[in-house]
Amino acid sequence: MYTVIANGFVISSEEAKIADIIIDNGKIVAISESYRTITENQVVELIDASGKIVFPGGIDAHTHIDMPFMGTFSTDDFKTGSIAALYGGTTSFIDYVIPSKNQSLSGALIDWKRKAEGKSYADYSFHIAIVPPVDNIINEFDLLAQKGIKSIKCFLAYKNALMLNEADLHKVFKAAHQAGLLVCIHAESGEEIELNTNELLSEGKTEPYCHAVSRPAELEGTAVASVIKIAEGMGIPIYFVHVSTADAMINIIEGRNAGNTIYAETCPQYLYLSENLYKEPNFEGAKYVMSPPLRSSEHLETLRASIEANYIDVVATDHCPFNFNKEKQIGLGNFSKIPNGIPGIELRMMLMFSLFKKNGWKLTDFVKINCTNPAKIFGLNNKGDIKTGYDADIVIWNPSVSQQISKKMLHENVDYTPFEGYEISGMPETVLLRGNIVIKDGKFICDAPIGICLTDQLS
Ligand code: URP
Ligand code: ZN
Ligand code: ZN
Repeated sequence: MYTVIANGFVISSEEAKIADIIIDNGKIVAISESYRTITENQVVELIDASGKIVFPGGIDAHTHIDMPFMGTFSTDDFKTGSIAALYGGTTSFIDYVIPSKNQSLSGALIDWKRKAEGKSYADYSFHIAIVPPVDNIINEFDLLAQKGIKSIKCFLAYKNALMLNEADLHKVFKAAHQAGLLVCIHAESGEEIELNTNELLSEGKTEPYCHAVSRPAELEGTAVASVIKIAEGMGIPIYFVHVSTADAMINIIEGRNAGNTIYAETCPQYLYLSENLYKEPNFEGAKYVMSPPLRSSEHLETLRASIEANYIDVVATDHCPFNFNKEKQIGLGNFSKIPNGIPGIELRMMLMFSLFKKNGWKLTDFVKINCTNPAKIFGLNNKGDIKTGYDADIVIWNPSVSQQISKKMLHENVDYTPFEGYEISGMPETVLLRGNIVIKDGKFICDAPIGICLTDQLS
């Protein structure tokens, strides 16, 4: 018995055409000019998508759900975060497991699975962060790979917490290469950030805008260049998370031109929001405190141009929400204590669609950076595209609506959105996860947490 999405403008990573999508048992079984090749009584659900765009479900490759960080926890759990994701047309996300000090990686993975199991309404997978000390945990890499983990993250920021030193970085790169794990890098320089922070605080500069002052754009570019050098020497691929500067982007392009495999991820915040926001009065600048910080408009323009030129592989959110009226207040009087992170999982597809529409960019490229590339890079088989045999993770998109973003319209478990007031066009209307209708005409209708752990599927 089939579900049919009829007469939509279907956009895959390769083509755009009016077609019907026929779904059986959670999979796309045909994409055809006419579903009437099957008899009417075989159709259990017929969704008329005339006048609508049909995209693959979004894949958010960078989230921090229920994460202990900077003395508190990010405020979405796997229930609220996954529901917000689905409302926004994202059907799968990849969350960062953050081991606690001296915890084994497999122990951390078990903890993270426990947070998600029976709670998530969207499908999910995991990357694992590598935190010091590394000597024991690098021996676990082979086992992790067998368990279906595809990628690890190394932080060059957050000194005395998550940051790895250069010697550790070499060890981790070597072990990851041997185990076939992709290394994701947070490129900044924790040492210099600490020096800058101490200097600012000693001068009595404590306001949120100092967060950006303490982490200048050059630090990211320099960190990217030095990581590429190490990776080049070892012949390993590298994935740079949340790229926020022109300098970083230029170094990535040069590294690729020299023959290295380098992936670049950016986030909607680095395409929409600029550092001026840190100067908002009444501590409101704290709403935008994330790392790397927001940058000046030249960087935004370069990153937008990099999307157009296909230099960016993935747009993810780095979703890491903290309430302004609660967790962010920890940093009142000391910017370095403001929990780093912002929400974004619900708005990513809408913000990106609006950017693509405004600039007249190809929607097949929209699909690539938001859906197909993250699935391919992180090994989420049969996800992220509209093709026969793929999971029927599908978003029926109304391209005609325009609205102003407001916290009120969102479902993330946090008391603000950094994108308040932005005009966006287009929104998801109906969303299917493996053939199950989870959002219908804008309403959440899923009565059980049906999300599955994709990492387990890979093992
Ligand atoms: O500010 C951010 N990005 N918080 C989450 C942790 C990270 O660095 O990705
Ligand atoms: Zn990071
Ligand atoms: Zn992150």
